[in-house]
Amino acid sequence: MILVTGGAGYIGSHAVLELLQAGHEVLVLDNLCNSSRVAISRVERLAGRPVNFIKGDVRNRPLLNALFAAYPIEAVMHFAGLKAVGESVREPLRYYETNVSGSIALCQAMAEAGVFRLVFSSSATVYGETSVMPISEQCPTGVPTNPYGQSKLMAENVLRGLANSDPRWSIGLLRYFNPIGAHESGQIGEDPDGTPNNLLPFMLQVAVGRRSELNIFGDDYPTPDGTGVRDYIHVVDLVKGHLKALERLEQSNGVSVWNLGTGAGYSVMQMVRAFEEVTGRPLPYVIKPRRPGDIAQCWSDPRKAWQELGWRAERDLTTMLADAWRWQRQNPRGYAGEKTGDKKTAPAALAS
Ligand code: NAD
Ligand code: UD1
Repeated sequence: MILVTGGAGYIGSHAVLELLQAGHEVLVLDNLCNSSRVAISRVERLAGRPVNFIKGDVRNRPLLNALFAAYPIEAVMHFAGLKAVGESVREPLRYYETNVSGSIALCQAMAEAGVFRLVFSSSATVYGETSVMPISEQCPTGVPTNPYGQSKLMAENVLRGLANSDPRWSIGLLRYFNPIGAHESGQIGEDPDGTPNNLLPFMLQVAVGRRSELNIFGDDYPTPDGTGVRDYIHVVDLVKGHLKALERLEQSNGVSVWNLGTGAGYSVMQMVRAFEEVTGRPLPYVIKPRRPGDIAQCWSDPRKAWQELGWRAERDLTTMLADAWRWQRQNPRGYAGEKTGDKKTAPAALAS
């Protein structure tokens, strides 16, 4: 059985589905602070199998101990965490507590239970500001400019120290580039609370009329069209990489780092144009000043994951955007369109 922390969230829910479809038993631990129980119900429907779901906090050691005692857990995928950059600047302690202390509590419980295989959700943000593209795993980590990024780098360092201290650990640090898209069914996808920080969720909300226009943050970067360039990766490709890492970690020890990206960069303006093609309608936008903390460009060298895991991203940009659009069209208010009893119950008003 695989314990998936944060399994009700955007990436976690796709990972749970992929694990179930690959024949794994899954236990989800999520406190639903940024997700909905509806996501789990939909995953169950898509997989045709029930999911063991526990509503609880990854920092709760007694709960973790009880779960490891009660279920035959062989490995953990650890997605539970907070991820909003701006919020992390305002509430740094909450970020360090969840993302760093939460990871420590999990590892303590794992060690006590004799479970040493862990896949950790890291981020390309740990590379900081680097001008050498593409970014390979050989690139030194940098200095993330916000507490969210720092908490990811700190958690990576905690896990490295742990693996050095005891050879039984086998830990994969998966550095995501920019996950977007949704499951092809349109049943699960990204459902941000409040105003989206990230590009595609914002574009989707403009397209369904929840927001009037996209703000493009800067058109004076040293990139071909002046707008920021990123390596967008389909969330289903991303979670397939997790399953490959999980398999690989069975035969290795220590810490392994893998970039999960496509190796291709697209600018904000290219994203807008490709999205307009997919939706068949214009996307209103305005150019705004650069967003503080943004880098001009960032894309991965994904070869290490291909060489070592036999994994590479297969879905192209049009598929990413079409799948995301299907999810948003079918669920214009996200999971709030369905009654849940949890946090995501207050729907934002929909413009007609
Ligand atoms: P998400 O917010 O949708 O999912 C995180 C899940 O963790 C949520 O369901 C939330 O309720 C849960 N959670 C948060 N704190 C918890 C706690 N203390 N105990 C139990 N559950 C808790 O985010 P996501 O996009 O699915 O991200 C998953 C992971 O991947 C995060 O660790 C994130 O930092 C990392 N990551 C995400 C991106 C991205 O662009 N989405 C990029 C790089 C890394
Ligand atoms: C951001 C975070 C990063 C985090 C990642 C995934 C910052 C500085 N970085 O990365 O730490 O790991 O999300 O959660 O917040 N853009 C617009 N208009 C928008 C939104 C974005 O023009 O409304 C532009 C940005 O300037 C950037 C690109 O779109 O050039 C992608 O932005 P975003 O989706 O927020 O991802 P990152 O900035 O790469």
